[in-house]
Amino acid sequence: MSMIAPSLLAADFGHIAREMEWFNRSEADWLHLDVMDGVFVPNISFGFPVMEAVARLTTKPLDVHLMIVQPEKFITQVRDLGAHVMNVHQEACVHLYRTVQQIHEAGMKAAVSLCPATPLCTLEDVLADVDVVMLMTVEPGFGGQPFIEHSLDKVRRLRQMIAATGSHALIEVDGGVNRTTAPRLARAGVDIMVTGSAVFGKADPAEEVRMLKALTTNA
Ligand code: DX5
Ligand code: ZN
Repeated sequence: MSMIAPSLLAADFGHIAREMEWFNRSEADWLHLDVMDGVFVPNISFGFPVMEAVARLTTKPLDVHLMIVQPEKFITQVRDLGAHVMNVHQEACVHLYRTVQQIHEAGMKAAVSLCPATPLCTLEDVLADVDVVMLMTVEPGFGGQPFIEHSLDKVRRLRQMIAATGSHALIEVDGGVNRTTAPRLARAGVDIMVTGSAVFGKADPAEEVRMLKALTTNA
């Protein structure tokens, strides 16, 4: 069974407290928070004041996905949120090894994300040190985009690379996860799936999370 991390980006921001009610009683494993700066990606989402309010509304682990340039500037602030995972982009980190070490020193799990066009080999020399590798299965910046099919092969290759190097990294995917793609991703070896539009806005989002998890069991 894969872990499911609903993305707040798809929530009704006029009723965040109500959204967190279903989230808290659901089987969701992590809350995925998408931070966008309008520079690394062509969109702006939310920042620390919003995340601080949300952090007070849940006890589930926070997975903070920073789609921003120079994410290393915010390690202390992300730590102070109580984040479980600080998720930075390989493409945004000039000194990725140091950033990963600093995330660990701050007491968080280090996740490194790759955009669809970034090859896996860019992580070869840091794979042993990261806790999670997140493959973007859409171009980052917007929810509700269609799943990029060749991601499945990338997941399978990453699974092999992790096994070959003895890394303990988990594989996370982000973008276009739904009832159709979730079982296929589970078969390819994904441990954690981020899901936005497939869950939020549903009549019963908690039931949708349960359904997605069930679809990844023995997929
Ligand atoms: C995209 C974000 C995703 C997004 C996923 O830039 O990183 O987390 O919310 O949304 P869906 O599940 O709708 O593709
Ligand atoms: Zn994300």
